[in-house]
Amino acid sequence: MKTPICEQLGIEVPIFAFTHCRDVVVEVSKAGGLGVLGAVGFTAEQLKEELDWIDAHIGDYKYAVDIVIPQKYEGMGESDPEQLLAQLEDMVPQEHRDFAERLLSDHGVPKMPDDGGPKGGLQGWTEATARPLLEEALKREQCVMIANALGTPPKDIIDEIHATGRLVGALCGKVKQALKHKEAGVDIIIAQGTEAGGHTGEVTSLVLWPQLIKAVAPTPVLAAGGIGSGEQIAAAMAMGAAGAWTGSIWLAVKEAAADPAEKQSYFDASSEDTVRSRSWTGKPGRMLRNEWTEAWERDDTPDPLPMPLQGMVTFDGVRRTKNYAGVGECQKVAFNPVGQIVGNISHEETSRAVMQRLLEEYVEAVERLNHLLPDI
Ligand SMILES: Cc1cc2nc3c(=O)[nH]c(=O)nc-3n(C[C@H](O)[C@H](O)[C@H](O)COP(=O)(O)O)c2cc1C
Repeated sequence: MKTPICEQLGIEVPIFAFTHCRDVVVEVSKAGGLGVLGAVGFTAEQLKEELDWIDAHIGDYKYAVDIVIPQKYEGMGESDPEQLLAQLEDMVPQEHRDFAERLLSDHGVPKMPDDGGPKGGLQGWTEATARPLLEEALKREQCVMIANALGTPPKDIIDEIHATGRLVGALCGKVKQALKHKEAGVDIIIAQGTEAGGHTGEVTSLVLWPQLIKAVAPTPVLAAGGIGSGEQIAAAMAMGAAGAWTGSIWLAVKEAAADPAEKQSYFDASSEDTVRSRSWTGKPGRMLRNEWTEAWERDDTPDPLPMPLQGMVTFDGVRRTKNYAGVGECQKVAFNPVGQIVGNISHEETSRAVMQRLLEEYVEAVERLNHLLPDI
């Protein structure tokens, strides 16, 4: 399954694992793929801690860091994070904050202790707050790639990453966005179908991947959205993908730092149990459907605000539903972003076992196809 990007990135197989858990990053990279740490939820100080840990445990293996600089968001152009926060605070109606609080308290989700944790809720969802994360990642020798979600990274950021010898990746869900990425100098384009967990568009993987691969050739494209098996990776490679970019399948692995109650929600869910909802971040993202997502849909409740304002409303809820995942009826209002492949996730496996399974299934699928060829 080697493709040219394996050599460029110093990896064995082009299987990319997007995750918020440092242990999963290390395990996947050690198993020959590339662990990608999603940085959006960390402050620069927290990211430093996570990357210090990865650097201390990953040996000679490589990894990537993912940031989020959206194409469009409220307050764009303000580069000072504190000014931006102050400017945006006034734009959040109290009604939204009260509604979110009511949903949490009605379901018995305890409040966070005042532990000096991050405040405000902007997280890394803006250019102003993503830049410090990027600077931290660029200090790391084994971080070989920076990926960006929700838009084409600004030109100066692409230039800065390239100047350090690293590759730039960017996600997209439409051919039009992919062409913009290519024109801006993005090295690896990640084509994400609507099945995916997290922010996602409307076109399915089966339609999007080949369209996009042809449109941006010879720029390498990673297939994302709905991948949970080696057969699916073989299908993507058959369409010309340079590798597979996965996310959901790492949410409930043994090394994932999620509460058992959150993992159980994934084990219990079928592929019909996800929904694209703006209710947590303000942009459409795929997640488990529950009383929270349904409540924000109703006509008699507030409509989700644009990014990053909705994230400022729900920031406290994200922390609380992660921290107290098993308390009260928390899972009924929890933030559980995951893709449709959740229907295949039924028990805990180690990251290494998942990698092994993907490779074995890939080989079986390729052999199956080879058997269909006539003998020459
Ligand atoms: C819980 C979760 C959070 C995500 N957050 C981000 C993110 O911050 N940045 C990003 O580039 N992609 C994010 N994604 C999307 C993944 O990078 C990946 O494209 C997607 O998971 C692939 O589809 P799959 O979930 O079907 O494997 C997220 C996905 C999940 C499941």
